[in-house]
Amino acid sequence: MLLAPSILSADFGNLQRDVEMINDSQADWFHVDIMDGVFVPNISFGFPVMKAVQRHAKKPLDVHLMIAEADPYIQAFADHGAAVLTVHYEACTHLHRTLHAIRAAGMQAGVALNPHTSVSAIENLVHEADLFLVMSVNPGFGGQRFITNAYLKVRQLRRLLDETGSKALIEVDGGVDLSNFRQLVEAGADVLVAGNAVFGTQDPVATIAEFKS
Ligand code: DX5
Ligand code: ZN
Repeated sequence: MLLAPSILSADFGNLQRDVEMINDSQADWFHVDIMDGVFVPNISFGFPVMKAVQRHAKKPLDVHLMIAEADPYIQAFADHGAAVLTVHYEACTHLHRTLHAIRAAGMQAGVALNPHTSVSAIENLVHEADLFLVMSVNPGFGGQRFITNAYLKVRQLRRLLDETGSKALIEVDGGVDLSNFRQLVEAGADVLVAGNAVFGTQDPVATIAEFKS
């Protein structure tokens, strides 16, 4: 299981410190949430902040776009060090083309599904993406409550990927904590995002170790 702490929950006044803390922990990726105030009712941060993360991060940047228009920015995210670039199923009219553009820019391509979107929506894309992200909250904010229907969706997605021979990873994002992560891994999740469950604790490095143990 890979753990991707979400820097949305980091202390932005001490961003370098928090990035270095993740560098020195057992975490695998940095999860980077980009929100535009249009696709989701919140604005997070953009390229200048991402550049600061890129400068200090020694682990892959897993970028989760919650923006209405991803296509014009694909190359810019590659230039800012994104290893994985995930777009939302609900935001992309020509998703197949977008995924190809992400791969052509040298990144792994991900598709995120909102809580209301069925797994069947991506049936025709199992080989076009390197990662599928199951949202277990409605995107926009950290610290929300986990939606338990995500277990079912992870199991459905696991079955679909196994049946079709897709090697794509399954990621779960939103409300993941030490109380539900085992069940998610059992259901078939490969990558877990954790914001508050990591940065909201006294000793984030120890919490990460607990996730990984
Ligand atoms: C929510 C973001 C998440 C968020 C997770 O829209 O996509 O990545 O940072 O934070 P927690 O783990 O606190 O729910
Ligand atoms: Zn996210």
